[in-house]
Amino acid sequence: MTESLDSLLAALARLLSESRVAVGFTGAGISTESGVPDFRTPGSPWMQNKPIPYEAFLASAEVRREAWRRKFAMDDLYRGARPGVGHRFLATMVSSGRMPAVITQNIDGLHQQSGLSPEEVIELHGNGTYATCLSCGTRHELDGIRSLFETEGSPPPCRHCGGILKSATVSFGQAMPSDAMRRAQDLTLSCDLFLVLGSSLVVYPAAALPSLAKRNGASLVIVNREPTKLDAEADLVIRGEIGSILDAISLKWQYN
Ligand code: APR
Repeated sequence: MTESLDSLLAALARLLSESRVAVGFTGAGISTESGVPDFRTPGSPWMQNKPIPYEAFLASAEVRREAWRRKFAMDDLYRGARPGVGHRFLATMVSSGRMPAVITQNIDGLHQQSGLSPEEVIELHGNGTYATCLSCGTRHELDGIRSLFETEGSPPPCRHCGGILKSATVSFGQAMPSDAMRRAQDLTLSCDLFLVLGSSLVVYPAAALPSLAKRNGASLVIVNREPTKLDAEADLVIRGEIGSILDAISLKWQYN
């Protein structure tokens, strides 16, 4: 017999109240209600093309042109996206002092838009709202790159060293950001509540963190529309829409 939603929400409210150090761990599912498509819901626009591996991006100017074309097309798809209930819920948890930071796999910058400082968002897969030079690391804004891309047909080189510019996201085959991974592991090992919101938990090493938290004694909660690979390990699984679930929790449970 499946537990009633009410009893699941009461259990989550209790875990939130009892927690002293909680961690939010988010995937694309927290942003779909903001209009940003996720990756593995059938028909996802992200999956219309095979992802471009990092090696291929480095090897060919033609592949880089295709990568930038796809990037700008996806940016247009969710231009103007604003933080949703889930982002705002986590921002409230962080500002209440119960959550030191949010670990995210997302690149959309919506956690920062919800009011979290850069230190309060640990981005495991980088950030797609700006670009960096692969040689010297100089940050470049997308508008400048896009206007040159559209007039010249190619992205410009780094204004500082002439190197290759890439969206500041982590592509398949590209090294994970070591600082972000270290911070995420430290936080995972220091929390008593690990709250997964909107991830299929199939991409590693990110998807290893919920199990690490659980093995380290934290309560593991998964809120997701579909079943995930780690549901069997979780202390609490709430299947459904993040927005309505967290709206209900916010009514039930006052953060103090
Ligand atoms: N409420 C609850 N769950 C939702 C909602 C919603 N409103 N919208 C989508 N979901 C669920 C989907 O059912 C899915 O299980 O969120 C999950 C999102 O899973 P993915 O699309 O696989 O996204 P994610 O887990 O973040 O992917 C991880 O894969 O392609 C790489 O780098 C990419 O960071 C990404 C990584």
